[in-house]
Amino acid sequence: VFAGVVRAPEDPILGVTVAYNKDPNPNKLNLGVGAYRTEEGKPLVLNVVRRAEQMLVNDPSRVKEYLPIIGLADFNKLSAKLIFGADSPAIKENRVTTVQCLSGTGSLRVGGEFLARHYHERTIYVPSPTWGNHLKVFAIAGLSVKTYRYYNPETRGLDFQGLLEDLSAAPSGAIILLHACAHNPTGVDPTVEQWEQIRQLMRSKALLPFFDSAYQGFASGSLDTDAQSVRMFVSDGGECLAAQSYAKNMGLYGERVGALSIVCKTSDIASRVESQLKLVIRPMYSNPPIHGASIVAAILKDSQLYNEWTQELKAMADRIISMRQQLFDALQARGTPGDWSHIIKQIGMFTFTGLNAKQVAFMTQEYHIYMTSDGRISMAGLSSQTVPLLADAIHAAVST
Ligand code: LMR
Repeated sequence: VFAGVVRAPEDPILGVTVAYNKDPNPNKLNLGVGAYRTEEGKPLVLNVVRRAEQMLVNDPSRVKEYLPIIGLADFNKLSAKLIFGADSPAIKENRVTTVQCLSGTGSLRVGGEFLARHYHERTIYVPSPTWGNHLKVFAIAGLSVKTYRYYNPETRGLDFQGLLEDLSAAPSGAIILLHACAHNPTGVDPTVEQWEQIRQLMRSKALLPFFDSAYQGFASGSLDTDAQSVRMFVSDGGECLAAQSYAKNMGLYGERVGALSIVCKTSDIASRVESQLKLVIRPMYSNPPIHGASIVAAILKDSQLYNEWTQELKAMADRIISMRQQLFDALQARGTPGDWSHIIKQIGMFTFTGLNAKQVAFMTQEYHIYMTSDGRISMAGLSSQTVPLLADAIHAAVST
């Protein structure tokens, strides 16, 4: 009965790892998926995560019962505090509902389905380009997905004029997906002044902000700085949605731990919204897993663990920033044709190199370097040892 099933293509990002795993070359390098690696090229479990896990294992009161549909209460409260700030009026006034979801993707999906069922405008605008999964997540959630201009390939920076024009032309009430910081895949963010202009425009047109916050603390090294855009939209008293992921900033990728928050006008509305979120979640996966959320809650509620976390987070962010400088210097040293200053200007996990699909294929074939075909490289996968190989490959790709 399934003989007619057509083979689907691999995922454009996770499929890069599939191809990488098949390559027998010992010097192969995976710069596809955004996952942090140490200087030795190894995945990293944060010390603070190991310590929190040890505490959980040694606590006999910990059981494996089902969590409530919306997840671990402590985790939800602490997650809202982390993104909106401890002194956020929206939290104090009890106008926020936060539900634990399956990392960033699950949070976006639950938020998308809620909006498709209960919000009057079913169009969501995502930046062009954006993380490829956004388009699929929101379409399957039942929203109509359109794009707004974001990146200018000529300047390798923000197309701010295009962005303002497209948001101005969007229908009143449309949902706007915003990357809270470290835009994926471009590494290009608006300045604080530009965020303020975006906020004013969006509020004047009643456009609904939906933030994807996948890199809080990972971009600048500061949890507060990376949440600034979100906080600007919350401090004006308006509504917004925010999806949070702990994949990158706590290295909890495979634990699938994240949260969706919806900031409402009153606490009564927030509690009604929460009741409807439960109806989205229950038939989808019933309730979320307990382990990852318990680790996050343990770290966020203990000031010593929290401080340790911020230090480890800063070390990861700093290592990525230093990789940017090293790669830039290596290309300069080789006299590689072109202006590569965007490598040190862009922020976060990725550099949007400007390399085209043909050049990427060349680098994979000749140098066993794996990356997405849009020319995005995960700086977090690079180390001092592998920078020369990547620089050689880029040099050859643009010189042939
Ligand atoms: C990425 O963009 O590489 C990450 O967000 C991982 C993913 O799920 O695609």
